[in-house]
Parts: sequence; structure tokens; C-alpha cells
Amino acid sequence: MSSNIDSVLIEDRLFPPTEEFAAKARIKQADFDALHKRADEDYTGFWADQARDMLDWHKPFSEVLDDSRAPHFKWFADGQLNVSYNCLDRHLADRADKTAIIFEGEQGDVRKISYQQLTDEVSQFANALKAQGIESGDRVIIYMPMTPEAVIAMQACARIGAIHSVVFGGFSAESLRDRINDAAAKMVITADGGHRGGKIVELKAASDKALDHGCPSIESVIVYQRTKHDIPMQDGRDIWWHDAIKGQSTQCDPVWVDAEHPLFLLYTSGSTGKPKGIQHSSAGYLLGAIVTNKWVFDLQDDDVFWCTADVGWITGHTYVAYGPLAAGGTAVIYEGAPTVPDAGRFWKICEDHKVSIFYTAPTAIRALMKLGDDLPNQYDLSSIRLLGTVGEPINPEAWIWYHKTIGKERCPIVDTWWQTETGANMIAPIPGVVATKPGSCTIPLPGIAADVVDEDGNSITEANKGGYLVITKPFPSMLRTVWGDEQRYVDTYWPKFGGKYYLAGDSARKDKDGYFWIMGRIDDVLNVSGHRLGTMEVESALVAHERVAEAAVVGYPHDVKGEAIFAYVVLKGKRPEGGVDEALTQELRNWVGEQIGPIAKPDQIRYSDNLPKTRSGKIMRRLLRNIARGEEITSDTSTLENEDILLQLQGKA
Ligand code: PRX
Repeated sequence: MSSNIDSVLIEDRLFPPTEEFAAKARIKQADFDALHKRADEDYTGFWADQARDMLDWHKPFSEVLDDSRAPHFKWFADGQLNVSYNCLDRHLADRADKTAIIFEGEQGDVRKISYQQLTDEVSQFANALKAQGIESGDRVIIYMPMTPEAVIAMQACARIGAIHSVVFGGFSAESLRDRINDAAAKMVITADGGHRGGKIVELKAASDKALDHGCPSIESVIVYQRTKHDIPMQDGRDIWWHDAIKGQSTQCDPVWVDAEHPLFLLYTSGSTGKPKGIQHSSAGYLLGAIVTNKWVFDLQDDDVFWCTADVGWITGHTYVAYGPLAAGGTAVIYEGAPTVPDAGRFWKICEDHKVSIFYTAPTAIRALMKLGDDLPNQYDLSSIRLLGTVGEPINPEAWIWYHKTIGKERCPIVDTWWQTETGANMIAPIPGVVATKPGSCTIPLPGIAADVVDEDGNSITEANKGGYLVITKPFPSMLRTVWGDEQRYVDTYWPKFGGKYYLAGDSARKDKDGYFWIMGRIDDVLNVSGHRLGTMEVESALVAHERVAEAAVVGYPHDVKGEAIFAYVVLKGKRPEGGVDEALTQELRNWVGEQIGPIAKPDQIRYSDNLPKTRSGKIMRRLLRNIARGEEITSDTSTLENEDILLQLQGKA
């Protein structure tokens, strides 16, 4: 990447919060100024204040930041706490009967769970885990539908110090197996199935398939009964959730763990084929989750917070399973698809449960926007007071629609930039104070040192000049390492600038007001519907098919998904006549769906006799990108052995 990335999007509209919103917000201008002042004057002291104020410690910490082994940082290292205690028990004195979770199934079933009930159920399930031999430090895979039991399973692991790794229910058996084996997990918690899009997602079947392929570390499988369709249970390995908790007490003392004890692993794509197990800590992660729920989402006692993300993604960890509960809030969980029974479902849920904070992805906003205003206008959205987006840059058109049609020009929109690795929002407006601009995630939060730098690591001061987005100081909620691969952690996140800065992998620019605008990834990572996929992952899946010799994958802009996948494929044997073979294309799409999950299916596949390569054998991705995007070819094609390839790649031969 050159440090002089062109920026095409200039958006000047400014939307300050309404007076009414600002007056009731948790963080007002004076608080905001004080937070920034404290963070500027004493960075570690600032985080120590927050950690003491927002978390309950079993053993207080005396040391704030240990950077003696940078980039392996430790926060609050001699302190001890328990994450589940901080999310549940500590609220029981004054919020035992308050609703912690409002659940709605796709078929319309609704459950409300109070803090007391949730604490009891988490404790009971934690006892069941112990009875199955799970101990502190063991890895447990959670492969569940979006039901409260997914959160209960996560919290129960946290309660006994077990390290969970949630695998998104949309991932295939192969993806599940890879994650189980990388984590050397002892147990899988799954369900018979889940309801999504009017169909049953066969979770147990996928889990069985993964285990049949060899997962030697797995000792047992707990199966939650959701759909109640027939599934085989394997004697000696599988146990129903309801049998596992039978006779277990609803009291379970939390296991006090060190601040740095791993809370969870979450696998995410990088530019190489193998997903990385991003390892998060207990205290630092929870601190990031709670402060951002309070600062960015302004979560208050009477709010109903609906973050639509699945717990299989980091957003569902921080803004469904942990953050809202740590802050004593009420979180909505919806099991199904936004289009069942029709595309008004999200708005109906907002009306029915009086959602006041609504957080979703630009891809969902664009999909719903395309269907027009009639659907949202049929519902009473007056309970909503704050809107949020995450996952990719939001285009100004979608932003304005969200602002007008959903927010009725009354609600601030918090566009939150962050990553699986950062654990919590990093660059985002504090809604009662910071005026927003459509398409910008605004400015870094207090205590977060973000910048845009050039190739040499120098801060770029010229407005709107693009560069690398970096974080220049360690922060509590950051990843600690890549599970089992310290070197990959160092190589991926600290490769440049003498290892001084955390490299986010995004390019960005700052405008004249210091607002950040994310411009895209700098590596071979695709962002499909707000979800990260490595090009190599899709390529590896394609070449694993018996008929494929070589494959190269690039992204191209897509109206709804943000980015879509274009695959160039070289077959073993002859190229199909005219480069077209619909049946094979369908087969390869389904194949990739099976290998990774449906979100990874290429939107287009083109067959050629060869891939365009440089003399040193590198695939000319820029050329492939130009073609996929229908752009003029800017690469030097003189090194191509065979000009005909170009015509084939363009679909002209
Ligand atoms: O490229 C950025 C984009 O999503 C990446 C992180 O993906 P993931 O770890 O899957 O987490 C997504 C949810 C936190 C980032 O490197 N991204 C995330 N939020 C935004 C964004 N791009 C622009 N604006 C955002 N608000």
C-alpha cells in the first residue's frame, strides 16, 4: 500500500446531538472533557480509575500496566475477579427482578429472564460443566443457536474459569472441526438445531460430522433441546442439557481468576488460510465491554438494548453476552432471520419490546432500506433513542435513511469502529457530546490512542491523506495473543514501525476536524456483510475440490453485502467451453459453503486456463480486482505469457 491513498468520499454534513438527548446522556460535555483530560495527563492512571470504578475485584490490583514484554502486555495483573460475578451476582442486591434478557424465537416465542433467574441458570449449568469434568483453563466450544442458553453457556464457562470459543452456527462442520482441534477443546455445547429463515439449522448434525472427522480432544457433547426434531445421540459422549443440569444446585461459587486469565478465544480470518484464535483476557476485556456500553451506547437503567449480532461474532460477545449484563442492562436476543415472516420483523421486535438502543450492521440497513419505508412506518419506533452501526463503513445514503426513517431525525447514530482483536469499540462518538458525520466513526474514545501514519510510522497531519490506522498505546481490552501461535500475534499485529504500534490492518484518513474515515483493508481480507473472510481461506476451500487446480479470489463492491466474492478458477483438465459451466459453478459454490459456511460462497466464478502471475510467481491480484470491478486495467500486463488469458479473465473468450 502506498501511504498516499486516494480518498474519494468527502462528506461534510454535521449532526450534533439534540438538546434533549444531550441533557439525559450519561456522559455530558463536562464529563467528556474530564475523561479526556485525565487520559491525556495520566494514561495508566485513567484506566486504573475506570477498572476500580466499573469492576468488582476479589483481590484489588496494585500494578496497572506491565509492558516489560511488549507487545505482550498485561493489565491489572495482580488483581483477581470473576467475569460472571461482575455480570450477575453483583446486581442481585438491587436488580434481582430486573429483566436481564428478553428473548424472542423466530417462531414468536418470548421469554423474559431476570437477573436472579439468569444467575441461577448460569450457576446450575456451571455445576453441570464441572460434573462433566470441565475445569479452569479447559477449552469449551459453543456452537449454538441465538437463544439465551448460548449466553448461559458462555457465562457458565466464565464462572468456572473455563475458556470458551463460540463458533458461529452458520459455519460448516469443517470450520467447526478446525476450531475444535486448534483449541484442543474438551467439550462441545450445541443444540439439536435452531430456527432460522423458516428452516432448521442442523447444528447437532454438523457437530457430529465435525467429530466424525476426528477431534481427539473432545470428551463430551452437551446438547440443548431447541427444535425437538429427531437427532441421534451417541452413548457415552452426548448428554442432553436438561439431563446435565438435573439435580445440580443453582448455587455455584465463582472461581476467582487472575485479571489476565483467558476469558475466551474467538476465531477470525486473516490473510492466510488458517483462522486465528484471538485470545482475550478477563479483566481488560470486561472493562472495555462495560465502559463502551456506558459511554458509546449510553446504556441506562430503563434502556432495552438490542444488538442484532449473533454471539458467534465479537459484537455478540461484547454487546449481547457480556457488556450489557456487566452494566446491569436489559439485552434483547432474537433467534432468527430479519425477513421472517416478512422484512418488518426487526421493527416489530423494536415496537413489541420497546427497544431503546438498536445496533446493527450496514449490510442489514442497506437490505432493509431497499425495501422502502412502508414496512418500518407500520411500526411504532418511538421507543428508540439511539442507533448504532458496526462492521464496515456505512455509506452516507444508508446513514441518512437510518437517521430519518428509523431514527426519525431524533436519534444519534454511533458508527463504531473496532475489531475482534480490540474487544470493544475504539473509535466511536460519545453520543451526547460528539457531533456525527455520515460515514465517519468520528474520534477515538477517551483512553484510546488511535492515529493514521505513513509508511515510516509518522503521524499524517495533512487532512484527508490516507495511511495506516494504528493504535499507539496498549489498551485493556486488546487481544493478548493468537492462541498457540505467539509468533503469528507479533507478525500480524506488530510487523511495522519497529513493533511500536498495533497495526489494525485498515487504511484510514483523518479530516480537518480530526474525524476518522475508514477506507478499507490493507491486506487480503474481504468484508462480506460485515464479516471478515480471508481470500486465502476461500481459495484453500476451492482448491480442496477435486476438479480445481488453482484459484484466486478478490472482492468487488456489492449494493447490500458491501463486498462480494469473485473467484477465478483453473480446473484440472480442460477449461469449460467458452468459460461457462453453470452446473460446476453451482457445485463449487455449494462446496465452499460446506467447507466454510454459506457467507463464503463466491458470487461469481470465472474459469481460465491460467492465473495471471508476475515473473516471481505472485498472482496479480490488482489486475483481478480491476476486472472483477469492471475497472480499467492499471497493472502492467506485459509479463503475462499469454494475452489470451486476459480475454478469458475478462469473460470475453
Ligand atoms: O475493516 C474494519 C471493519 O471490520 C474489521 C473488523 O472485523 P471483525 O473483527 O470481524 O469485527 C467486526 C465487528 C467489530 C475492521 O478491521 N469495520 C468494523 N467496524 C467498522 C469497520 N469499518 C468501517 N467502519 C466501522 N464502523
